[in-house]
Amino acid sequence: MRTQQVDFTSLYFGTPVAILSSQNPNGTTNLSPVSSWWILDKSIVFGLGTSSKCYENLIENPDIVLNIPDSKLWGNIELIADKTGKEYLPEFKKEMGYLFEKDKFSCGGFHEVKSINVGPGRIKECPIQIEARVVGHRYLGGAGGNLVSMDAGILCVHVAEELLNCTNHNTRFIVEKWQPLYYIFRHYFSVGEELGTNFRCNN
Ligand SMILES: Cc1cc2nc3c(=O)[nH]c(=O)nc-3n(C[C@H](O)[C@H](O)[C@H](O)COP(=O)(O)O)c2cc1C
Repeated sequence: MRTQQVDFTSLYFGTPVAILSSQNPNGTTNLSPVSSWWILDKSIVFGLGTSSKCYENLIENPDIVLNIPDSKLWGNIELIADKTGKEYLPEFKKEMGYLFEKDKFSCGGFHEVKSINVGPGRIKECPIQIEARVVGHRYLGGAGGNLVSMDAGILCVHVAEELLNCTNHNTRFIVEKWQPLYYIFRHYFSVGEELGTNFRCNN
């Protein structure tokens, strides 16, 4: 395969979208779309800009919910995409067209459900909602203190019943029904047909 060196401003080759709930100092929940995240065992790792309200909130209160939307919700996410929960937003974000929004649930057409183990609420419309608590963070080298990676321990996982097949013996996630939302170079996509399974697949 012949290759060319490129110098793209973004390198978003494709990751799933999630919406992070964090708790504002007044107890309300802020919502922040993210696509830089992954899960390994019972830990979530995610990347945040330090100018976000989410980062500011998590420094004070480590509780989060990782709400995972399905592809149908891309329009709702776009409704909050140019918003920040930060009242006094940095100049560069103003120039990009961001606006302050204190109620992203109403703005995005979402409804809040109380969490069980953490302060910030969950998004009712998201089929997967993971309650977790941040246990560590680290500034990303080369980003001048503007980006941070955080890791959080998972406390509890909620999954929509229509994505579950429950028998007396076990509960299975119905992968064929799951339509995750992917962010690829700032375009939204979902998944196509299944291609095959991994050797360790048992569902
Ligand atoms: C689909 C999508 C994915 C995004 N991924 C990230 C991300 O992984 N990390 C990040 O810091 N910002 C990401 N952003 C930008 C934030 O959502 C944006 O800065 C927002 O204003 C944060 O809200 P807050 O300031 O209220 O926390 C993403 C935005 C969209 C629409």
